[in-house]
Amino acid sequence: MKWSKKSWRKFNIKQQPIYTDTNQLQLIEKELNNLPPLVFAGEVRKLKDELVKVSKGEAFLLQGGDCAESFSEFNANNTKDMFKVMMQMAVVLTFAGGCPVVKVGRLAGQFAKPRSSDLEEIDGVSLPSYRGDIINDNKFTSKSRTPDPTRMIKAYNQSSSTMNLLRAFARGGMADLHKVHRWNLNFVKKGKLGEKYQILANKITETLAFMEACGITSANTPTINETTLYTSHEALLMNYEEALTREDSLTGDWYNCSAHMLWIGDRTRDLNDAHVEFLRGVKNPIGIKAGPTMTPENLIELIEKVNPTNEEGRLNIIVRMGAQKIENELTKLVQIVKKHGKNVIWSIDPMHGNTIKTSNDYKTREFNEILREVKGFFKVHKTEGTFPGGVHLEMTGQDVTECTGGHKDLTEKDLEARYHTHCDPRLNADQALELAFLIAESLKEARESKK
Ligand code: PEP
Ligand code: CO
Repeated sequence: MKWSKKSWRKFNIKQQPIYTDTNQLQLIEKELNNLPPLVFAGEVRKLKDELVKVSKGEAFLLQGGDCAESFSEFNANNTKDMFKVMMQMAVVLTFAGGCPVVKVGRLAGQFAKPRSSDLEEIDGVSLPSYRGDIINDNKFTSKSRTPDPTRMIKAYNQSSSTMNLLRAFARGGMADLHKVHRWNLNFVKKGKLGEKYQILANKITETLAFMEACGITSANTPTINETTLYTSHEALLMNYEEALTREDSLTGDWYNCSAHMLWIGDRTRDLNDAHVEFLRGVKNPIGIKAGPTMTPENLIELIEKVNPTNEEGRLNIIVRMGAQKIENELTKLVQIVKKHGKNVIWSIDPMHGNTIKTSNDYKTREFNEILREVKGFFKVHKTEGTFPGGVHLEMTGQDVTECTGGHKDLTEKDLEARYHTHCDPRLNADQALELAFLIAESLKEARESKK
């Protein structure tokens, strides 16, 4: 069937808000259609070229950011801290893991959330569930929870300022490898992890001095003081995604210009549903989340639909099985993909399969379980002779207390101190950096066994 940016509208669709004022919705869609793209097709093609390297095992994909961005937590410092942690993790993976890193934020558009239930009930009162700041407000009142289309404009504007900051940080000096010491956030500096980072940063500084002596400087090698941080989010709220989808004047192809990379969530990836229909037609790199209900047959059908030409760099399977299930489930998926000769990037989301409720009613994730799923992922790829291409994390540059464990050994009791997430629990900067060091060890091993 012929694809258009509106063709998804004829398909079954899940996880959408019900907007009561359809006239207002149409006006907002029209306004969004006329607003400038947030990213450009040429940048998206550049990301795809980098992902081709990941699919060949020559680079590693680091994707991370908030579970849900919010209007209230948005400010330049939070964006800067997220940028710094991504940079720290990337140097750890590059230097200690011996592998170039493609950096993709869950940023500048990661607002809409799938929910397990359409309604939330508190003390006998039932209201629509919170679906992310682009749709409604978390406050438990009827007015706040009513989906409001004008929020799409606010989310667009916030995404646009976030993009602007990210581009400035990436090109304006913040990403300079000579500043590797300064990326370390104050609360990470103390303790063993801080020391470990300082040692690595010193080595990088020494290496830069040596390279400079050999004539390799930022003047002739821009990657020393500049970088690219690409953006991504779950393509969930289809009215927004459609409005930002544009025809590229150079190639005539369609690109979703709300982010460089988009993914389909585990709850909206049915082969014949609207989200798959929509994403099959845009040229961006696409992710598909694969939880425990993904069968090998489902996966092959999805791959054939979304990437019929078996293009490299197009498709990223983001596995999120949980520490318990990862080895069994992933083995089945990797084997069928190998058998059919499909080109995919495999990455691991060790967050969404390891969410638990504490006795004091916090949603949390235990650091060791997250690590166990990552290790299981690397182990399967080692056995199957395939490349563990990337990691997908929910994390923040802030010193929050949302996930337990890590080298500071946060306990359930610590969670209440700084539990700020608008949706799922994130690794704090400290835990994210610690995980990067641990992943780097496995990555180094995977790269060496490939040689
Ligand atoms: C997410 O990435 O925030 C998410 C909802 O994931 P999943 O679709 O894997 O549940
Ligand atoms: Co989440």
